[in-house]
Order: sequence, then C-alpha cells, then structure tokens
Amino acid sequence: MGKLKIVVLYDRVVVDEASEQAAAGDKAPVVRSLDKKEVEEEVAEALTKLGHEPVMYELDGTQKSLLGLARADCDLVFNLAESFADDDTADFKIAAFLELLGRKYTGTGTHGLMLAQDKAVAKKIFAFHGIHTPTFAKCYRGRLDFSHDLQFPVIVKPAREDGSIGIEFSAVVSSIRELMERMDWLHANFESPVLIEEYIEGREMYVGILGNDKPEALPIVELDLSKLPDGTPRIAAAEVKWGKGTKAYRDTKSAVATDLPEETVALLQQTAVAAYQALELRDYGRVDMRLQPDGRVQVIEVNPNPWLSSRAEFCIAARKSGRTYTQLVEEIVELAFARA
Ligand SMILES: Nc1ncnc2c1ncn2[C@@H]1O[C@H](COP(=O)(O)OP(=O)(O)O)[C@@H](O)[C@H]1O
Ligand SMILES: [Mg+2]
Repeated sequence: MGKLKIVVLYDRVVVDEASEQAAAGDKAPVVRSLDKKEVEEEVAEALTKLGHEPVMYELDGTQKSLLGLARADCDLVFNLAESFADDDTADFKIAAFLELLGRKYTGTGTHGLMLAQDKAVAKKIFAFHGIHTPTFAKCYRGRLDFSHDLQFPVIVKPAREDGSIGIEFSAVVSSIRELMERMDWLHANFESPVLIEEYIEGREMYVGILGNDKPEALPIVELDLSKLPDGTPRIAAAEVKWGKGTKAYRDTKSAVATDLPEETVALLQQTAVAAYQALELRDYGRVDMRLQPDGRVQVIEVNPNPWLSSRAEFCIAARKSGRTYTQLVEEIVELAFARA
C-alpha cells in the first residue's frame, strides 16, 4: 500500500468537571477522565512509522468542526470519534456524516454502530442467533418496553451509554426498593432508557476480534475483579474505569487469561465472533462476556471501534497474538481500505 493521507478523527469535550460535579451534588455520576498521552497520538505515530501521512482532526462538538471535516481532503479517515458535544450516542451520526461525504473510514459502519449502541436491540438480535445474554427488562420514564421474569440480584444501567458511565457499584441491587431508587437516579441523570439485567456471577472476559470476511478472535483478556474491596459487586463499574486514585481503580488489572481450559477458550472465542457478526461490526471490535462458574458464557456487551490505547485490553490481546501496535494499526487500515 502506498503512502496515504489519513485523517485521525477524534472527539474532545471541554467540560469543567469540578463545576459539573458541584452542580450535581455528591450523587453525580462518575465521569470520564482523559490521560495525557491520548490514543490519537499513538495511532498517528504508528501511521507515520508505516509511511503514511496522518492529519489530526478534532471534533469538538461545534458546527465549525463538522464543516472543517467536510473540507478535509484525505484517502482515509481513522475513526476514533465516539461522541459529539458530550453526546455518547452520536457515534453512528459521525459515521453517517462520513458516509454522506463519501469518505472511507476505519471500523464499524452506521448500521452496526446503531445496533451495538442500543443494548436492548443488541440483546434481541443475540436471542435470534442463539447467543446467550442476560435476561432483561427495558423501561423509559416509567413506561415498560419489555420484561422477562427477572430474579434478583439485577444490574440497572443506561441502555445507551458506554465506558461504564451510569454503572457505579450501586447499580447492582437486590431489593425492589434499591431497584426503584436506582431507576429514579438513572432517569434523573441520563437521557436514556434503563436496562435491568439479571446479574451474572462470573469472571469478566474480553475477546478482541479483527477482520471482516473471516474475523479472527484474539487471545482472551480478563479484567480481574477479585481484588475489589469486600462488599463491592464484582463489576467493571465507573469507579473501576475512571476512579483514579481509588482502591477499586488500583486493584483491578487486565491481563491475558492463561488458566482457561481449551473448550472454554473456544467457547468464548466462538461466541465473540458470533456476536461481532450478528451486530454487523467491521474491521475490529471487542466482545465483553461473563464466564459463569459452570463454564457457560453470557455476552454483556459488544464494542465496535474499541479503545485503541496501547494499554487497552484490545491491544494487550493483539500483542499476545504476535502483533506490534504498529502492525495492528496497519491491519486496521488495510481492512478498511480493502472493504471500501
Ligand atoms: N448482567 C450483568 N451481570 C454482571 N455484570 C454486568 C452485567 N451487566 C454489566 N455488568 C458489569 O458492568 C460492566 C459495564 O457494563 P456494560 O454493559 O459493558 O456497560 P458499558 O457499555 O458502559 O461498558 C461490565 O463490564 C460488567 O462488569
Ligand atoms: Mg462494557
């Protein structure tokens, strides 16, 4: 492949966290925080090493940034943008915008992003394909959309958020009262329907997938939640992902799972590929699952365009499969280019 001009597209929201927290009080949701070395820089560095010409482009939530993107000339967009103007549900609209502009871009398309974003829709599709996923109910501001006959404990979460936003440790509830309180809290803080799922006890397993015609499942990465403080549910809650400086954050680490029987590895990988295909993901993705003590596997969530930081689970898995970070970026570019 010759030298390509590649726009590295990423999103930034300028929020004053301190004042937001103060306005919402101590019951405010745990918010995302960003690191110094951002993933877009890592991707751009890799593209430079590969001989391409990366151009950084920030979608900052303004109309101006959209107009600038429309004018930016390139051979390919490396799409790292997940939100627009603090709206985490805008990922598919960004993809749609790129499609209208006639741009080639990496990762999942508009349709797949929509399917994966709506967790209730995703679960209905899994059921059709015989992919196991926790039983659930969905409601929005008191209106019930659908409900299985659920057993406590359940986990209460926004149907359309990401990054564990809205999923604190208190999301796992064991009584009607706690359930009502948590639903009320979500309705107050998020413009999203609420999903109530049966809580699945088990280990937290992530399977990265690469490819389109023949998607390859990467080695399994586990987020070890066993060292969370006593009394906290074993979940990748917002505190675990974003609560820097807390014990929950420090004591949870992701690593390649090396102790799994072959059948379990195969089951996790087959399930992940099936879920990736069912939701029409492209190029690369990560499927989050729970491995129950009896060996059954339940799909919790499918992530199109998963976080590509070199520290991320997806990159840990890619490294284990023998790919360097640069090779991984190259493969994603090639997959996107071949597809387009
Ligand atoms: N039904 C469930 N049973 C057990 N744990 C769950 C369940 N749903 C979510 N979790 C936990 O909460 C975490 C975040 O949930 P997830 O649906 O992946 O939200 P997000 O899209 O914000 O990442 C999961 O990684 C898992 O640890
Ligand atoms: Mg998740």
